[in-house]
Order: sequence, then structure tokens, then C-alpha cells
Amino acid sequence: MNSPSFIIISGFNGKDAVILNRCLSKHYQIVAINEPAEVLAVLDSEAVDLLLCNTATKEFDALELLHQARKNHPETIRLLVGHLSHEETKKAINEAAIYQFLSNDWSISQIELLVSRALENKELSYRHRHLSRELKIAEDVLTKHQVKQHNDQNDTRFDKLIYCSPSMATLCNLAKKASSTNLPVLIQGETGTGKELIARGIHQNSDRNQQPLLVHNCGGMSDELLHSELFGHKRGAFTGAISDRLGLFPAADGGTVFLDEIADVSPTFQVSLLRFLQEGEVKPLGSDQVIECNVRIITACNQPLNALISKGLFREDLFYRLNGFQLNIPPLRKRSKDIEVLANFLVAKFAVEFNRKILGISSGVMEKFMLYHWPGNVRELENEIKRMIAINDGGTFITETSLSPHIAALKTKVNSVNRDLSLNGQTLKQKVEEIEAKIIADALVRQRWNQSKTAAELGLSRVGLANKIKRYELASEV
Ligand SMILES: Nc1ncnc2c1ncn2[C@@H]1O[C@H](COP(=O)(O)OP(=O)(O)O)[C@@H](O)[C@H]1O
Ligand SMILES: [Mg+2]
Repeated sequence: MNSPSFIIISGFNGKDAVILNRCLSKHYQIVAINEPAEVLAVLDSEAVDLLLCNTATKEFDALELLHQARKNHPETIRLLVGHLSHEETKKAINEAAIYQFLSNDWSISQIELLVSRALENKELSYRHRHLSRELKIAEDVLTKHQVKQHNDQNDTRFDKLIYCSPSMATLCNLAKKASSTNLPVLIQGETGTGKELIARGIHQNSDRNQQPLLVHNCGGMSDELLHSELFGHKRGAFTGAISDRLGLFPAADGGTVFLDEIADVSPTFQVSLLRFLQEGEVKPLGSDQVIECNVRIITACNQPLNALISKGLFREDLFYRLNGFQLNIPPLRKRSKDIEVLANFLVAKFAVEFNRKILGISSGVMEKFMLYHWPGNVRELENEIKRMIAINDGGTFITETSLSPHIAALKTKVNSVNRDLSLNGQTLKQKVEEIEAKIIADALVRQRWNQSKTAAELGLSRVGLANKIKRYELASEV
């Protein structure tokens, strides 16, 4: 049950104040305060829904009080009764921004009606904001559902993810398995690797996909705010809590909650989260009642949680509760095959979005993309491609001239295979060896000189690769 709305009446003479108090207190909590400073102090300390002022008292500047109230607490509805000159009317509208004005011959029934309409309006606008958020989520569910139907026909994809590297294929197979369960999922990976995209994919592929997926970033939030966001609060639970708030967990009942940057949660809040995971119920701030909610939890973190546990920064018992499935997304630089498919996919996507006719990416650009280490991962690749398309005139390939300077500056010297196959005085053996050396050098750069991976890519043994590196005198440039 909601507590009654809280109203201050101010500037009414004794008789009027008594009548108003008697009538309005049937439905609302009323206080009569005539001292402006005191009214402002109460506005600061309580969640006041409505301020009703009267201009009748000479020594009391109702307009100035309403103006101050607007500046400090715009969420409190302001009503005015009495007599106003032309100038005062302008001030009431422009500065105090009152909700409505009643002239001197007001009656109590008019005031009752006005107050109830104003409060109803306030409640409606709060609900409107809340429902708009829900609607946006529901629309998301609908489009994802269509994507799911499309993807069901193609089991080499997972939701909206584009990939062709074996590591991503293994990861997405695990994500598909996770989707069919209710177990919590912990997704770890550098920023921009697609943690949120995977979380959304898991939700869409789960039985919960007709219920909301609510996303919350836990980074940089006080415990109080986080508690109120996730578990909700009652009106007046703390300064600024002007109405009840349904937390994210109760709002996502039946659906999924995705908590990003989980490592940023304080030790105290980790305990609250653990309690929720153990008991499946939340207690809004300022409330003594618990609400049961059935949500599936997906968390994400851009560093391995294990490392934080060993430093004593993350509770081990909470980790086990979150770690039903663990998905570790490799950084983009470690899946060069994905760079190519993603780059082509993103060029086609943004060319349509920006209404440009683009023929594709030049091989020079692709070579640099393969060399670059992409600290911002797919998000950075997206931004680079968006920018390149935006500056492209259309009708051509995207070439190196539109690359960002730091990517354009990468040296592809060892990387560019000499495509001139004429012998130019060399023997066939020498020429073949030259090409072999370049292919190996190219693979080594791509794998950042990780010899095991390079050997695997080239189909050589590690010893075989080491021999060739020695024979061709290849060395890392960095
Ligand atoms: N495999 C992928 N296929 C297509 N788009 C991707 C892929 N991985 C990431 N993205 C895109 O890259 C951006 C960053 O992804 P996001 O899920 O927000 O990453 P993170 O949460 O790890 O920071 C998003 O625009 C997302 O759509
Ligand atoms: Mg993210």
C-alpha cells in the first residue's frame, strides 16, 4: 500500500486553515506552515507531493516561496489561491511555474478537486516514465524474437553475434547451452568484446524471452543508490525519494537482469546481492516487507573475478553463486578471422545506415586491421568503420587514406607479401623460400609472436616453426 500524499498548506488564515485541514486530511497527510523558511526546510527534509499557498496574508510572499520551492524541489506540485495583479500573474506563471491558480472566491470542493487532479497527474507522469522504459524493453524483446526465428535456421550464429573463429564458435555453443537453463552466467572479457550482446542473446534464446531483460551498470554508484535501483525504495526512505520505486529485480520478475561491471560493487553490497541470490527476495529501502522475485542473473566483468578474489576484493561465495556458466570472450586481436568477417559485415551495415554505396574494404586496410591490437575491441572497430564510411564519397572501396592515423602508421613491411612472382635472377628454390619467409613473418605478426599459435595457424610443429625462424633470421620488431 502506498502511503498518503504529503501536502503543505501555507498562508491561509486560521479559519481557512482549519477547514482545509479537516477536509483534506481525510485523504492526505496535511501540515499547515506559515513561515516560508520553515516550509523550505520541510521541502528539503521530506518528500512533499504538493504545496498549496495563499496570497491572502500581507506579510507572507506566497509567490517568492513558490519560486524558491520550484528551484529547489521542482517535483513538488505548486498550487496558488488568492488575488493576483497583472505583474504577479506573470511571476506566478514564469517564475513559480505554478500548476494552477484559483481566485479569491475559492470553495473547499474546488480545492479538493484541484488537489486530487494535480496528484493524479503527478502519479500518471511517473507511471508514464516507468512504462516507457518497460515498453522500450518490450519492443526490444519483439525484434530480438524475430532475429531469433531467423537465427534458428542458421546454427552457426548466435543471436546478433558475427564470428567465424573457432574460439567464438565454442563460446557461443556454451552460451546456447546456458540459454536453456536458469543458471546464472558470468561473462568476462575486455571492454567492447560483446559481453552485453551475448547476455542479450542468452536472454532471447531462453524461455524468459517474453519477459523483460533489464540491464544495469553497477560501476560508480553508491550502495544506497544501487540498493534503490536494484531492490527499490519506499517514498521518503531517503532525501529525494519522492515516490515509491520499483527496483530492477522486482521489475524484471520472470525475466533476466544483466549486471554489468559487477567487480565495482562494494563489499557491503556484495552481501546484499548474495542474500538476494540465496533467498530470491528483496526488501526495498525503507520497507519492512520483502518481495519475492524470480529473475535470472547474468553478470559481466572486464577483468577476471578470480584475480579480485585472491586480492580479497570480491567475495568467493558470491563468485560461486554468479559462476553457473562462465563465458570468457577472447579479445578481438586474438581472433583475427573475426576481424575480417566483422569488418566486412560492419561496412555493409553502416553503408546502408549512412546511405553510401561502398564496394568494400581494400586489402591494404584489411592488412592494417589485422596488425592493430584493438584495445577497444569490436566497439573500436565499429567506430573506425563508421568514421571511414562517413568520410568516404561513396561508389569506391575504402582505402588506407581514410584510416585513423595510429592505424595507418602501422608497419606492414614484413606483412606485405611480394606479389611479383618473376624470378629476377633468383633460383626457384630461393624465390619459394623468400615467399615462405614472408608468409611466416606475416603469421607471426598476426599472432603477436606467439609461436604456438603461429605454428597451429601454419600447420607446423613448434620445433618446425622455430627452425624456420632461425633459418630465415626472423625477429620481432618490437
Ligand atoms: N561478435 C559481434 N558481432 C557483431 N557485433 C558485435 C560483436 N561483438 C560486439 N559487437 C558490437 O560491439 C559493440 C560493443 O559490444 P558490447 O556488447 O556492448 O561490449 P561490452 O559489453 O563487452 O563492452 C556493440 O555495438 C555490439 O553490437
Ligand atoms: Mg558493456
